[in-house]
Amino acid sequence: MNARVYSIKDPIARAEAGRVILSGGLVAFATETVYGLGGDATNETAVAKIFAYKARPLYNPLISHVHDVRSAFAIGQATSAALAMADVFWPGPLTLVMKLMDGFPLACLTSANMSTVAIRIPGDPTTRALLSEIGRPVAAPSANRSGRLSPTTADHVVAEDFDGLKIILDGGCCAIGVESTVLDVSGAIPRLLRPGAITQEQIEAVVGPIELTNNNVGLLSPGMLASHYAPIASLRLNATELWDGEVGLDFAGQLGLAVDLSALGDLLEAASNLFAYLHALDSPGIKTIAVAPIPRTGVGIAINDRLQRAAA
Ligand code: TXA
Ligand code: MG
Repeated sequence: MNARVYSIKDPIARAEAGRVILSGGLVAFATETVYGLGGDATNETAVAKIFAYKARPLYNPLISHVHDVRSAFAIGQATSAALAMADVFWPGPLTLVMKLMDGFPLACLTSANMSTVAIRIPGDPTTRALLSEIGRPVAAPSANRSGRLSPTTADHVVAEDFDGLKIILDGGCCAIGVESTVLDVSGAIPRLLRPGAITQEQIEAVVGPIELTNNNVGLLSPGMLASHYAPIASLRLNATELWDGEVGLDFAGQLGLAVDLSALGDLLEAASNLFAYLHALDSPGIKTIAVAPIPRTGVGIAINDRLQRAAA
């Protein structure tokens, strides 16, 4: 049966979604980054359902979403870097990995049995209203099957056709369009685990020099395995022309194509269009999507990161 789609702005729909989550069910909902598939992060069975829906490997931990800073630091241990980052970037597209507070009843599966927890306070006020009503951390990975493109519209979630998912809270197209920046602030020096809309430069302006992840990051942040976000068609990156039989995805008019992530070369616009355009181009008859070069600055780092994983 298909899930019902309601506006996330509808308080009655949010209340119903909250009841579903508090009784151990799952709800898909909009955030400013990508759509999440949410369940009660303190309920082992609910979290197990998330992994089952997504066919996600159990060693890959989930982000817990809360509505305010106080709830965040009731779950994760605040270091000075955590406090400084929270102060500047929360609510927003930032996930902080912290040591789990002793005694907090997080489901073991949420953190894949690790002693750390990843926490995010979404920027969208209606998403926070949902979280505030629930009053418990909501574990929510992107609402797509593991290894597929992340959803940035309610339609993308509908198309996943999760068996048994009853409610999708629609917030329109995600304004940011790539998943949150993940920063580990549990140790002495913060470490960037996943690039996102909040850039290395912005982070370093707040906490000083940080460590970047290398290719072994799979061990530190299991979600960053090389092959991720894969569409069905293959991707050819940094294309300077279109080859026979390819469809193209342009940036700033470099290939002269109609499908352009941002004709004006705006990287924020390109990020918000990225998954939606890949979803749209990715159809059974298409073998290869050629993607124009995207500058590796600002959120361009995150765009290139997602493209490389999709191509791997
Ligand atoms: O924007 C987002 O972050 C979206 C929306 C729905 O909030 N969520 C999302 O979740 O992208 P997911 O599960 O697709 O990505 C979570 C990332 C993974 O790379 C995972 O390995 C990492 O966070 N992660 C979670 N807990 C961690 C932990 N304790 N230590 C290190 N990495 C962790
Ligand atoms: Mg994901």
